[in-house]
Amino acid sequence: KDRGEIRVHENLEELSIDLVDYIAEISEASIKEHGAFCIVLSGGSLISFMGKLIEPPYDKIVDWAKWYVFWADERVVAKSHDESNYKLAKDNLLSKVNVFPRHICSINDTVSVEEAATEYEFAIRQMVRTRTVAASDNSDSPRFDLILLGMGSDGHVASLFPNHPALEVKDDWVTFLTDSPKPPPERITFTLPVINSAANVVVVATGESKANAMHLAIDDLPLAESSLSLPARLIHPSNGNLIWFMDKPAGSKLERF
Ligand code: 6PG
Repeated sequence: KDRGEIRVHENLEELSIDLVDYIAEISEASIKEHGAFCIVLSGGSLISFMGKLIEPPYDKIVDWAKWYVFWADERVVAKSHDESNYKLAKDNLLSKVNVFPRHICSINDTVSVEEAATEYEFAIRQMVRTRTVAASDNSDSPRFDLILLGMGSDGHVASLFPNHPALEVKDDWVTFLTDSPKPPPERITFTLPVINSAANVVVVATGESKANAMHLAIDDLPLAESSLSLPARLIHPSNGNLIWFMDKPAGSKLERF
């Protein structure tokens, strides 16, 4: 089965240049196509790899005013909390461009986790209705232009953790968990159908601690091993592109390298 394109980089500098080049390219293409760029971010080191976007030449090339920013997952904490992905991306990236993106989704931490998930999904449904976010042709899902994901060494992506029931949610776009194995425990996350309906999905993972999960996510394995125990393995955009960005240590267990 096609596991997408694999880009193994010599070092982190090269990786981040390639990543921002790619983001700038998809941003331009999406804006040409439908007047907006709907980009989905995740937490972790991903945001630091995007840092070059606020440096020349990208800071001027990218049409920030047409960016709509979403989260693949978010911790249900205040926007100003140190554990908030919103704060991480805002402090390190989004507040540093001279033109603030058009729209940045943030979650409501004053309600229950379940309500926060419902509200986030409702906000996205409105944006699909007004056609800011594209709709998928063959499923009841939004079609984001680009979903950027990190990956944990256990193979989790967004807040979809190994063997967690959230992996099996099919009818909601956003689900919630109160028992995340990685703190903080209360989180909301995109479900697999949303991730797999995107036009472009990118997974970025670096360092040797990710090598085994990369191997399990990408290489051909006996069926028994390719189950819910490795969430990154379940990424299969049904009508979109998948690219894995990694450094050599993260790629060191791949069969083809
Ligand atoms: C979280 C983290 C997590 C992170 C991955 C990869 O919500 O607990 O943000 O999901 O994205 O563990 O992170 P690194 O790239 O920093 O290893």
